[in-house]
Amino acid sequence: MKIFVAGGAGYIGSGCTEFLLNNGYEVTVFDSLITGHRDAVDKRSEFIEGDLADRKLVRTVIKNGDFDGIMHFAAFSLVGESMTNPGKYFMNNNAHALNLLDAAVENNIKSFVFSSTAATFGVPEKMPITEDAQQHPINPYGESKLIFEKMLSWYNKIYGLKYTALRYFNAAGATEKFGEDHSPETHLIPLILQVPLGRRKSIKIFGDDYDTPDGTCLRDYIHILDLAQAHMLALDAPRSGHYNLGCGNGYSVKEIIEVARKVTGHPIPAEVEAKRSGDPAELIADSTLAKKELLWSPKYENVEDIISSAWEWFKKNPDGYSK
Ligand code: UFG
Repeated sequence: MKIFVAGGAGYIGSGCTEFLLNNGYEVTVFDSLITGHRDAVDKRSEFIEGDLADRKLVRTVIKNGDFDGIMHFAAFSLVGESMTNPGKYFMNNNAHALNLLDAAVENNIKSFVFSSTAATFGVPEKMPITEDAQQHPINPYGESKLIFEKMLSWYNKIYGLKYTALRYFNAAGATEKFGEDHSPETHLIPLILQVPLGRRKSIKIFGDDYDTPDGTCLRDYIHILDLAQAHMLALDAPRSGHYNLGCGNGYSVKEIIEVARKVTGHPIPAEVEAKRSGDPAELIADSTLAKKELLWSPKYENVEDIISSAWEWFKKNPDGYSK
């Protein structure tokens, strides 16, 4: 089986590419390297540097590639940035991604797997979040992902494109080769680990008066290799569908810092700061459907294992990939 991976030089796309290759798939990585890294492209894959904005290139590559499936990770994903530059998100995550969707239909691609997000739910009414929960995004990033879910659904109805939208909760961890390197970094776990790496003095806790047991936000952290497993299984999904991917456990910001102290042996000083706007108190997935229909079985349900894998990668790559 040959898979086209858009965004295969990014954090989740690189781990997924490695996982596919380890499982006998052939992979072509397509990435603009705007946020991705050349060193994050698995050397066993074919690499094409290109942008989804380039409709002609996208159509040519898909036409000539004889792909069995497409995985689409190539999106901008900074919630804060999307609130100041929404057009960047709708342009890339929707308008440019349409080129990939059209190419999939033109070439009868059998399976299209899309990186969606818990951010499509906004502030959910009940926890844990099931697939049928109301989707009311509270930022343009989440809205752009929801719009693409809807584009997929219409292409399914009209052209019969088979797709799977995987809604990740908090992607975390690393493989031995590939890890997390965003610029700027905004995610909790890599920022915490910058403290024992000597890259920052302390970690800021954004708010400690939420309505949660210790007052800090609860999140459902999911290892990138478990996300990769879901992508591979989705290629053979029995039907088109949407699936929430998380471990089903909520860890608070304070708990994550405590686990990181244990894993790294560093005191990791923390300071409470003002709340970050747009942070829901709690986001926890109900992934029953993915387990039942995709036969997904996450392997990293212990958050200590997730943080340890990230720590191992950062010790080898304290400043991320070469720039
Ligand atoms: N946090 C801190 N200090 C920091 C960074 C984060 O306290 O320095 C807190 C946040 O306020 C939040 C939690 O740690 O409560 C996790 O924050 P992240 O930025 O790591 O992740 P988010 O939950 O904000 O976002 C993640 C993905 C998004 C996705 C979202 C779904 O990164 O792409 O989940 O809601 F949209």
